[in-house]
Amino acid sequence: MDAQETVREAPAGFRVIEEGKARILFPDTDGVFYNPCQVFNRDFSVLNLKAFAKLRKQEQGEKFQGLKVLEALAATGLRSMRFALEVPDIASITINDLSPDAVDVIKKNVEFNGLADSTSPVCIPNIGDAVDLMHSRRRDRFDVIDLDPFGSPTVFIDSMVNAVEEGGLLLVTCTDMGVLAGNHPGTCYAKYGAVGCKTPACHEQALRICLGALATAAARTKRHIVPLVSMSVDFYIRVVVRVYTSAAKVKGVATQLAMFHHCTGCRAWQASPLGHAKTKNGNVSYHASSAPLTSPCPHCAYPQTMAGPLWCGPLHNAEYLKLLETEVMEAPETIKSVPGLRGYVRTMQMELEAPMYFALDFLVGTMHCSSLPRRTLIAGLLSHANIRGETYHVSKTHACPRGLKTDAPHAAVWDVMRAWVLSGNPVSKKCGPEAPAHRLMATEGLVDPKLIDFEFPVPEGILCDEPLHLPKPERWGPGKLPKKKALPVTSDKRVAE
Ligand SMILES: C[S@@+](CC[C@H](N)C(=O)[O-])C[C@H]1O[C@@H](n2cnc3c(N)ncnc32)[C@H](O)[C@@H]1O
Ligand SMILES: [Zn+2]
Repeated sequence: MDAQETVREAPAGFRVIEEGKARILFPDTDGVFYNPCQVFNRDFSVLNLKAFAKLRKQEQGEKFQGLKVLEALAATGLRSMRFALEVPDIASITINDLSPDAVDVIKKNVEFNGLADSTSPVCIPNIGDAVDLMHSRRRDRFDVIDLDPFGSPTVFIDSMVNAVEEGGLLLVTCTDMGVLAGNHPGTCYAKYGAVGCKTPACHEQALRICLGALATAAARTKRHIVPLVSMSVDFYIRVVVRVYTSAAKVKGVATQLAMFHHCTGCRAWQASPLGHAKTKNGNVSYHASSAPLTSPCPHCAYPQTMAGPLWCGPLHNAEYLKLLETEVMEAPETIKSVPGLRGYVRTMQMELEAPMYFALDFLVGTMHCSSLPRRTLIAGLLSHANIRGETYHVSKTHACPRGLKTDAPHAAVWDVMRAWVLSGNPVSKKCGPEAPAHRLMATEGLVDPKLIDFEFPVPEGILCDEPLHLPKPERWGPGKLPKKKALPVTSDKRVAE
């Protein structure tokens, strides 16, 4: 049945909200959560489900029976309505929320969108604690679980990683960016089992903390994750991972987690994986890492702090990004976030796997010198490689518009910054004698005027800026919690916050 043909007026006490192909009823009373600016998140999720359905169909061939989807924290059910109306090959969608008010609205919306008698997909509104529901479905699993909490997803992670089918998909949002960005290391450890620190690459740190928490939880039941897309957007992150079971592979999880040593002066970082793999006669064995890292910082002699354990494996999967790009390029007009999503996916496709990034403004701020054009830093690093007879790569990052990822050593970055200072951009006189800038200037390294070469060729792709963000809606942010009464707190207070 075509939802558009069943369009009705909103009953008293409700208004109609349109998004994608869905039209939902939203109550005038402040009891159920809806955040208009998360349309980007929902558009992204719809396209991911479309890509995943095709992938799953291709992998499973005749055995494919359509995706069994769970929206664990559904609020109005808008996201599920969009899945039902916009993604082919969904067998069923369980649309769950703890709040009775929300589930009443979900039921109305299933009806309002003409999906009440639908057999493809079957829409199943459900009231319950998402943890209990997912725990109870650890044998009869879902192909896809979408988790979109207020703040942190961590209370749901243990049950979620076990309620998803072999090779199934998890889509997880975190909006507690203050915690993930290193402002509250104690809270971060309590929730995610990792300490965050203050770093200019805080958005990538957030992604790596979340992936680390998923990987660690999955490993407890012999499961492991493969990240497909890890996205930092505005005030939140969203990760998309597949989950598999393998007693052999989980032994390697320690090699995908690392402590990151960050300098408190120049913020250079170094990753120290928790384990490493050795292969002998075709057999892989895993060992604890040995090398303690240098402290103080080799570049500016300031003390170092430690963050982690963070995921240090890939953030994205190149093959999957191609599928997602196709979905973005072929998206219907109803998906309004296409320009921004195209920018994200293309930038992610170019991103180096090297962990973390430099924020250009932070480098200039540390040196207390005049602003350095991004092209000049990239050219400087490539020229450094040329002089040294090495190969370095540089890329943009979707997580920071003025950020650069590189596999060049940090020393090379500071060599280029020193050359910039020496080429007529001196350290400010206001900068105290103990500041990292003076120590960095005094550190030995490659001194060569060719490091500042405005003519040095730089690959086109690094410089072209894809639009990453759409104009911000009026009310921008994670959204306001509904009134307390709408959310019954379970006995163990298992409500995400
Ligand atoms: C951020 S909203 C979800 C928004 C929705 N996914 C969307 O795209 O519009 C979070 C929802 O989680 C629900 N919730 C919070 N804790 C829960 C729990 N333990 N189990 C089930 N639902 C819960 C809240 O009632 C709220 O409706
Ligand atoms: Zn330093």
